[in-house]
Amino acid sequence: MRVGDDRTKTWRDAAGRGPIAAAGPRSVRAIGTAFAIQFAASRPLGAPMRAWALAIVLVLGVGACLDALRGRPAHADGARTAQASWAASHFRVDNPAHLDDEAAEALYRKLVDRMAGLYELSREPNVEGYTRWPRYVRSPYLAAAHGNRYHTIYARSPEGRYGRYERAGEMLPGTAIVKDSFSVSEDGQVHPGPLSLMEKLEPGSSPETGDWRFVEIMPDGSLFGSSTGPSRENVAHCATCHRAVAQTHDWLYFPPPDYRVDPAP
Ligand code: HEC
Repeated sequence: MRVGDDRTKTWRDAAGRGPIAAAGPRSVRAIGTAFAIQFAASRPLGAPMRAWALAIVLVLGVGACLDALRGRPAHADGARTAQASWAASHFRVDNPAHLDDEAAEALYRKLVDRMAGLYELSREPNVEGYTRWPRYVRSPYLAAAHGNRYHTIYARSPEGRYGRYERAGEMLPGTAIVKDSFSVSEDGQVHPGPLSLMEKLEPGSSPETGDWRFVEIMPDGSLFGSSTGPSRENVAHCATCHRAVAQTHDWLYFPPPDYRVDPAP
């Protein structure tokens, strides 16, 4: 296995674009504004040219102000793309078909802080600091049905109930369970994957999902869906599948038995 391969000093995103193109339209707009201001200020221009340059400054400047008002710094998307791209492009494994538990764990340790930092960009409060919660698998486990993704489960559960697995009974409000993921493609490329979250709400908050809130966060930190938000359709399939164990285990499936850490007493 080889990790930390940084032969390509200049990163490219998935579409092969370099830093400027991938920085997104907002950065291009900022560069355009700067250029137009310089042009208007430094050249002795005829009146029509000066008017054109001023018009460009106004249009681009208003756009930048709107971005600021919406609370989105002009560089945020570009920075996010660059970070996500870092995580995706700097890791390769030589023999993806034989990533044993030890190798999966070693690779995960190199990735996890960077991945967690990206998930936190979603501003989902239940994701903050999740890697310091109790972890319930001894190494990332492979779910081949899900794009060769390796999953790791953490839970913040009052009384450590999640760790009693099938004997846990109903989870208490405030419980949050996080499952992060990364994948290794056939040619050894390592990619951070989405993060799944279940949060137990106060009784009666969401009867149709057993008072669980289902959330999915993309590896670049964008919120894909939350079952209590406008994007609930995107995560409807979560409850559909988890409902199968609603009666027996309060909607929980628990980690594969051979990966579980010792159950709590
Ligand atoms: C096709 C069935 C299926 C779908 C769809 C599904 N899950 Fe799961 N989920 C599972 C299974 C099975 C597990 C047990 C661990 C594993 O296999 O990864 C699990 C485990 C989890 C866990 C760890 C808690 C537990 O159940 O022990 C979380 C959190 C989770 N899923 C969230 C989600 C979210 C959020 C979605 C939607 C974005 C989702 N799941 C969609 C089947 C599913």
